[in-house]
Amino acid sequence: MSIYRNSIWFLKGLREYTKGGYVKAAKNFDPTDIEVDASKRNFMVTGANSGIGRSTALELAKRGGTVHLVCRSAERGKEAQEAIIKETKNDKVHLHLVDMSQPKEILKFTTQFVESGAPLDTLVNNAGTMVNQRETTDDKLEKNFATNTLGTYILSTELIPALEKSKCRPRIVTVSSGGMLVMKLDSNDLQFEQVRNFDGTFAYAQNKRQQVVMVRRWALQYPNISFSSMHPGWADTPAVQNSMPDFHRRMQDKLRTPEQGADTIVWLCLSEKALKCPNGSFFQDRVVVSEHLPLAHTRSSDADELQLISRLEEMTKTFKNQL
Ligand SMILES: NC(=O)c1ccc[n+]([C@@H]2O[C@H](COP(=O)([O-])OP(=O)(O)OC[C@H]3O[C@@H](n4cnc5c(N)ncnc54)[C@H](OP(=O)(O)O)[C@@H]3O)[C@@H](O)[C@H]2O)c1
Repeated sequence: MSIYRNSIWFLKGLREYTKGGYVKAAKNFDPTDIEVDASKRNFMVTGANSGIGRSTALELAKRGGTVHLVCRSAERGKEAQEAIIKETKNDKVHLHLVDMSQPKEILKFTTQFVESGAPLDTLVNNAGTMVNQRETTDDKLEKNFATNTLGTYILSTELIPALEKSKCRPRIVTVSSGGMLVMKLDSNDLQFEQVRNFDGTFAYAQNKRQQVVMVRRWALQYPNISFSSMHPGWADTPAVQNSMPDFHRRMQDKLRTPEQGADTIVWLCLSEKALKCPNGSFFQDRVVVSEHLPLAHTRSSDADELQLISRLEEMTKTFKNQL
């Protein structure tokens, strides 16, 4: 990550990613875009027990939608499910326990979900992590990569058969991060085996870049589905408190609420305007924004992007064979 890229990015963040940035951007929002009756729509939100994902699930439930919460903790998931049902009086809120860093768990879940014939119109890939020390899962996968990239890839691609049956235009919304703007895709070292000193922020930013590339590639591969990636801004959530304590302490007063962070996700899930934007775009505050900072040299080649997809596909096959 170059000093130039980081400095430009941080100044941009102070202007745009903060609470102040949200309030400024929100002056151009049309509130009617998300005043939608979602009672016939079916949503799935990962990491729905906390922060931005929980706010998203609550907003979708408020509009009458069926909402599948995908969480890793039974206790935290149940608490969120009960609170959302209580607040919205919508009992079509279902809990599924899936650890997004465990490919075989995801595959078992998606197989059951697709075979059940349960309808699905919109998937929100929100679950995300920033693990600062190098940790590996039982499958010997680096934990940030397993959760943010491979988990997102497997869940999305395996749910496509369910989404393709949707009676409206199906959507997949992936919560990336503006942090990816400082990072060029590296599809050779997906699990950070070649880096000398492991750095969680670096791994996270690379994963978030990978998500944006995956989304753009999926949009080409599955034109009948609407794909978007987005940056929620800097929001005050447990992830920021726990993984970036210094940043949280310094920026606390400027951070967005989880609701403000969730706004563009809700808009991407519900609005008709979102469907008119180019498929596979990256969004911030309800508008398409560039995936690159000026002069940052972060564009990747077709070959590198295809290599990422084919590595993820190979890994998915390997885990399917282990079931
Ligand atoms: N907040 C920000 O400023 C910001 C900025 C840019 C991008 N984002 C992105 O926004 C998304 C939501 O994060 P947040 O800020 O709302 O943080 P959060 O409140 O900590 O929520 C993260 C959610 O992801 C879940 N999760 C993490 N690892 C998981 C796993 N292996 N399996 C299943 N679920 C898992 C967490 O579950 P547990 O509760 O069980 O841990 C939690 O529900 C993330 O993708 C994050 O990268 C956030």
